[in-house]
Amino acid sequence: TSFKLLLLPGDGIGPEVTAEARRIVDWFTAQGIARFETEEDLVGGSAYDAHGEAVSDATMDTAQAADAVLFGAVGGPKWDGVAYDKRPEAGLLRLRKDLGLFANLRPAICYPALADASSLKRDVVEGLDILIVRELTGGVYFGEPKEITDLGNNQKRAVDTQVYDTYEIERIARVAFELARTRRNAVASAEKRNVMKTGVLWHEVVTRIHDEAYPDVALEHVLADNCAMQLVRRPKQFDVIVTDNLFGDVLSDIAAMLTGSLGMLPSASLGAPDEKTGRRKALYEPVHGSAPDIAGQGKANPIAMIASFAMALRYSFGLGEWADRLEGAIATALDQGLRTGDIMQDGMREISTSDMGAAILKN
Ligand code: NAI
Ligand code: MG
Repeated sequence: TSFKLLLLPGDGIGPEVTAEARRIVDWFTAQGIARFETEEDLVGGSAYDAHGEAVSDATMDTAQAADAVLFGAVGGPKWDGVAYDKRPEAGLLRLRKDLGLFANLRPAICYPALADASSLKRDVVEGLDILIVRELTGGVYFGEPKEITDLGNNQKRAVDTQVYDTYEIERIARVAFELARTRRNAVASAEKRNVMKTGVLWHEVVTRIHDEAYPDVALEHVLADNCAMQLVRRPKQFDVIVTDNLFGDVLSDIAAMLTGSLGMLPSASLGAPDEKTGRRKALYEPVHGSAPDIAGQGKANPIAMIASFAMALRYSFGLGEWADRLEGAIATALDQGLRTGDIMQDGMREISTSDMGAAILKN
């Protein structure tokens, strides 16, 4: 089988970590496991410097035609003064919007070798493997009206609007239940139906989709604030957590800190399945940004990026066993005591971005 993979390295450490993922992509092709036809293009500040836009129309066409996009990171102080709609982040927002990427997947996996680097005690996080499925294109970040009005007398009023339609909840619920079936078959749906109408509809729709199509999956409803507490108290009780855009933003950052450094965290954003092929549009990226403070020094941790490619193997290319093996290779490198600066611990060996990439490839 042959797959089209678009690489968008971006700015700062983006190109450094993408280069390490690329070596692994090319290894798969060289081994004949799958043929990845890769293309590389500009995004973010580097695209702005070249074409005056954070992502060009030509790049968007390539992204639309690709089976998956592997995205590094964008932004940096160089572009601080750039107009809002041209700024580096606008490139990522356009990709998400035009590709219809409504489901954001954020796994929180605790590698045994790093259990002591967690914000929590080892026994609370050791073996942790949860997946947060966050609705990404609706909710309070996008709902109208969204404005600040002047009321006079030094008073202003700010309004954000949380809106969800049935179809938006249905499709994110389906993604969560389908993913749960490939895991431990349990979904926790987090909302606040006690105080929000969107929570009432969320609860109703998730329950109906479950009963209609996924009765085999264990479903639990949890209030979002309680979910935050449970994530810190006893995170291993969860398998898949499905939630809206706002709660998902917060809950996934809490989950992130259970596992150690930003440099370890991958993510995926998925769209609707294609009517003919059933394949979903997808973009895979590390959670971290362009890390201007360490860019160009060979210090960046490439694991988040490589683990993002592992997610692509699992969710876009039907190579779940190879995804497991790639994650195993990462765990082995950590067991071997190899560390980049961000995850350095006493008695371990600090190595460069490319040495970490090479060690994972070898494993
Ligand atoms: P950041 O994630 O770039 O960096 C935060 C801290 O974590 C820094 O100290 C950095 O050195 C460290 N760090 C991040 N990734 C690392 C890695 N792979 N290995 C080792 N250390 C790592 O977030 P920050 O500093 O808030 O933003 C920097 C720039 O990145 C800004 O322009 C921001 O807008 C952009 N950004 C872009 C994102 C994206 O492309 N999706 C996401 C977040 C921020
Ligand atoms: Mg966030």
